[in-house]
Amino acid sequence: MLRIVDLFCGIGGVPEAVRQLEELQVVAAIDIDRASNLVYHLNHGIQPECRTLESIRELPSADLLWLSPPCQPYTRRGLRNAERDPRSEALSHLIRCIEHHPPAALILENVPEFENSQHHRELECVLKRHGHVTSCEVLCPTQWGVPMRRRRFYLRAVKGPDTIASVVPPSINSALSEHLDESAWDDPSLKVPLITQQRFSAAMDVVTPDDPRATVACFTSAYGGSPVRAGSYLKCDTRLQLRRFSPREVASLMGYHNHFQWPRDFSSRKRYQLLGNALAVPVTRTLLSQTQAMMIKR
Ligand SMILES: C[S@@+](CC[C@H](N)C(=O)[O-])C[C@H]1O[C@@H](n2cnc3c(N)ncnc32)[C@H](O)[C@@H]1O
Repeated sequence: MLRIVDLFCGIGGVPEAVRQLEELQVVAAIDIDRASNLVYHLNHGIQPECRTLESIRELPSADLLWLSPPCQPYTRRGLRNAERDPRSEALSHLIRCIEHHPPAALILENVPEFENSQHHRELECVLKRHGHVTSCEVLCPTQWGVPMRRRRFYLRAVKGPDTIASVVPPSINSALSEHLDESAWDDPSLKVPLITQQRFSAAMDVVTPDDPRATVACFTSAYGGSPVRAGSYLKCDTRLQLRRFSPREVASLMGYHNHFQWPRDFSSRKRYQLLGNALAVPVTRTLLSQTQAMMIKR
């Protein structure tokens, strides 16, 4: 059994991916956000520890460490203050912990801009000093045939093999319509007010449900708040108004199972916010299973 420790665990993209894999188990998870931890526990039966990662003294014991640190320090919107941004202190601390107690394998996920950061260079340097081979790739669910863009950078490090082969995405090939919920057209809370449509129509990314080639834009945590650059909208010939994707539809595009649950008192805004930070499950699953295969071969 390969033991995974899930750090910055959010709503649990890692245990969601592990559901369909054998011989992999999440043994510990940590996140500072109580709301994410509630969702994690509700869906995966594992209670994450609610604490700041800069406060841990040593890493929990694991075969594979998964890290999804906050991306704001590295993005243009987050002002790219990287190592000087207090939100990246936890990662600086974890790199020091890894230096003292390196896991056999590690996977880090972040925005593509992370690749050029000092943190990336430091982490790779530490891992190579300990004899790990590393590989860096920017991957997107569209490579799996999922009609949603979500480009993310992934660093993989494994101790033992001579090289890490590039990811080979298995084909999922789903059409947008397979992720949609007909009843969502009747939900008034999803309708985009006409005044917003008129004001922002040129900048809004709009798709039609029956277009077999439709691909939606990346949903960010601002979806449901900001009308532009936060995700796509749906238009239907027979209806006047545009509508947002429901949280359930976003979750489905991200690869979360149909019965994914939310605490009842969580607003749609809260659900979009948590989904906007979450992992794309098919990409996570492939990375975990291909890393596992490499570790078994050793
Ligand atoms: C990009 S999200 C990761 C989401 C996760 N991988 C998922 O599947 O939902 C970053 C997460 O790090 C958490 N976080 C941010 N700073 C933290 C810190 N200093 N200590 C612990 N968790 C932190 C946030 O609450 C958030 O859930």
